[in-house]
Amino acid sequence: KANERESLYLVSEFASSYFQKILHKTDQGKSIGLSYFKERGFTEETIKRFDLGYSLDEWQAFTDEALKQGYNLDYLEKTGLTIVKDEKRFDRFKGRVMFPIKSMSGRVLGFGGRILINDKKAAKYLNSPESDIYHKSNVLYGIYDAKQSIAKEDNCYLVEGYTDVIQFVQTGVTNVVSSSGTALTSEQIRLINRLTKNITVLFDGDAAGMRASLRGIDLILEQGMNVKVCSFPEGEDPDSFARQNTLEELTEYLNENSKDFIQFKASILFEESKNDPIKKAETVRDIVNSISKIPDQIKKEIYIQECARIMDISEDVLFSTLAQITNKDA
Ligand code: CTP
Ligand code: MN
Ligand code: MN
Ligand code: MN
Ligand code: MN
Repeated sequence: KANERESLYLVSEFASSYFQKILHKTDQGKSIGLSYFKERGFTEETIKRFDLGYSLDEWQAFTDEALKQGYNLDYLEKTGLTIVKDEKRFDRFKGRVMFPIKSMSGRVLGFGGRILINDKKAAKYLNSPESDIYHKSNVLYGIYDAKQSIAKEDNCYLVEGYTDVIQFVQTGVTNVVSSSGTALTSEQIRLINRLTKNITVLFDGDAAGMRASLRGIDLILEQGMNVKVCSFPEGEDPDSFARQNTLEELTEYLNENSKDFIQFKASILFEESKNDPIKKAETVRDIVNSISKIPDQIKKEIYIQECARIMDISEDVLFSTLAQITNKDA
């Protein structure tokens, strides 16, 4: 089994160098893939740093080459790079720019592939399927490149997408990883927890994204970590924002707009429910539920006091709600 996993790594690493070769050395790769990346503002250095690639818009160009090089069809299929159907073989990734996803130790686990033209019918990103080496809930995009910087800065920026990570790094903010569109998991948080106790979650500038992410954040509190959140202007995401700003401007924006998560959540819940007593009761339970996840007793108390002030409600009510929630969980 260990041997088989090693074979899956080797196939994936072959694929990564193949996709890079296609990007840099073929006409299609250069005129379509490389120009796409350049139009997005990625420099040559950035493209190489992230091992970005391109998959030819052909049915089985990759699979043919891999078989010719002696890679086993079984492993090609198990990594999802090749789809076998009625004795026929197809490349999973066709005509997409390729983002290899690496483990903490730098091994290639799988890929995200982006279509070049936004089209409502096709998924914008196609990702490798789960395999013996790729479990998307255990992986953070960018962690291999970011780990030293996360430890050094003693903070980790968590963004939504591949390109957010890349544009941040290019701009000079290197302590950044992405959950790549999936809901944040405890395993992903544990990877960060080994490097720092501080996470700043960055939201795309759309309300839907933020509401969805607020839920996952309780999982970070549960691990005793400190959480800040920061959103971007309407219509912007970390990638587009970083692209339009210098490192100084980006750093200043992050410093000025990162807010303590509990305080932030309390204030938006208060705004939403201040004129509606029933809704307010629900939001009080919601915020106290988040506070109840914090392991540290002193922090819990401080947050209760803060939230009482922000939500204009008595500390006693919050403390008794906390006691109820804690007893129910016990
Ligand atoms: N994602 C995905 N499949 C999709 C859409 C999104 O896997 N069909 C994941 C990708 O990892 C993507 C992330 O969710 O990077 C965030 O999605 P989104 O904000 O829509 O994409 P961006 O990263 O902003 O990509 P781009 O700028 O290229 O549009
Ligand atoms: Mn989004
Ligand atoms: Mn985005
Ligand atoms: Mn984007
Ligand atoms: Mn920039």
